[in-house]
Amino acid sequence: MSVGLEVKNEKLETKKEQVISKRFYIESYGCQMNFADSEVVASIVSNHGYVSTTDLNEADLILLNTCSIREKAELTVRKRLESFNKLKKHNKKLKVGVLGCMAERLKDKFLDEEKIVDLVVGPDAYKDLPNLIEEINDGRSAVNVILSKDETYGDVSPIRLSSNGVTAFVSITRGCDNMCTFCVVPFTRGRERSRDPKSILKEIQQLVDSNYKEVTLLGQNVDSYLWYGGGLKKDFGKISDLRKKSSIDFSKLLKLVAESFPKLRIRFSTSNPQDMSLNVIKTMSSYKNICNYIHLPVQSGSDDVLKAMNRQHTRKEYLTLIKEIKTIIPECGISHDMITGFPNESEEDHKLTLDLMDEIKYDFGYMFKYSERPGTYAGKKFDDNIAEEVKKIRLQEIIDLQRKHSSYRTNQYIGKFVEVLIEKESKKSNLFWSGRNEQNTVVVFPKEFYNVGEFVNVEVNSCTSATLIGQATGYSIK
Ligand code: 5AD
Ligand code: SF4
Repeated sequence: MSVGLEVKNEKLETKKEQVISKRFYIESYGCQMNFADSEVVASIVSNHGYVSTTDLNEADLILLNTCSIREKAELTVRKRLESFNKLKKHNKKLKVGVLGCMAERLKDKFLDEEKIVDLVVGPDAYKDLPNLIEEINDGRSAVNVILSKDETYGDVSPIRLSSNGVTAFVSITRGCDNMCTFCVVPFTRGRERSRDPKSILKEIQQLVDSNYKEVTLLGQNVDSYLWYGGGLKKDFGKISDLRKKSSIDFSKLLKLVAESFPKLRIRFSTSNPQDMSLNVIKTMSSYKNICNYIHLPVQSGSDDVLKAMNRQHTRKEYLTLIKEIKTIIPECGISHDMITGFPNESEEDHKLTLDLMDEIKYDFGYMFKYSERPGTYAGKKFDDNIAEEVKKIRLQEIIDLQRKHSSYRTNQYIGKFVEVLIEKESKKSNLFWSGRNEQNTVVVFPKEFYNVGEFVNVEVNSCTSATLIGQATGYSIK
């Protein structure tokens, strides 16, 4: 009996040793949520005996966390997959896994389309990775793309990958219920659900204990965060009044985080104009440690286009919201996402977008040509009828206008003092530090005796359209 046990243990040990010597390499594409998810994946895979590597050549398992938001993002991933063919020829045991939105969108079709892929895992199925990896190591391919009603990975402690040790992302919601007609996200990331505030606070506490100085609360639509004990956002209406009363919305969560961690800088992304409440803006203004910065995508300045996009607000409502933000927080930084060349977008619609930008003068923005996504409402019902040339010209016009506005905004800082959290060395010079002010604008200044992770006051003396350049004048007391 005891001999049998020993043999069994020996076998286990050998298996463990084999597993322990394996290395995984992970690469992320797309939004911040994907980068945060990769840290969850790294944690799950590490607990299964794999060790992380940043060297592709020594990897036994390559994972690509993919994005489907635009066709270009998918093409980039396909090209990257192609480049692994050579590696696989050299290392017959190498396995390649595709995670994230492309995995969810293409499901097992991926295995046929890209022969190099062994593993396909959607955004809600990462806890199944240990089983799926066993499958592929036994020579089979493996797929799990089941979307969940409640998976938030709240109980997984992410492993911070390529972190600066100072700033980190913390997911607070998953999925999206908005169904903007152009967007593939509701299909690839499923229904909206919120994470238990206790597990959010626990993760932030771990970060604070490890000396992190800034967190960004992440969700596709943070303003619709709602914790009432778990479950889908859409089911909130069915619960009792008592439970509704004790529920926690985004402004309450922000308050909770700000009060629990008074020395921590807090950011959040992304806000949705239709869900952003006055309470959130007031909470931001009441707590010094919540950064005065809002990423508030609008997508278009034309009511006709907003309607066709199924955005639940008008141009006027959006402008009213901006006015409210600027009244309560005059120095608030605001950025946008804009899509140009949406089906049927006329010259007049395009002019309305330029006009909206002129009125707001955003600090910065992310601008995209419309890319038709299979399966979306717009993909099915509207003709992608704006010529590529026209899309290109319109995109350039909004980029040029944004550059002008960014320049206008950065120039306003000249001669002023901004508080900067030092994050890393400046890309342009190893004699300079780089960080951001609370409005999320990059600030660079001579290193002197300061260090990464410190809050300093910087006097701005020049700028480009994207960067403030200055001189540190001392520590900022937190
Ligand atoms: N085409 C172009 N841009 C898109 N976005 C989302 N879907 C599309 C699409 N089909 C942009 C939106 C969104 C950002 C994350 O990506 O501006 O806010
Ligand atoms: Fe996509 Fe709209 Fe949801 Fe943003 S809010 S993820 S654009 S559906």
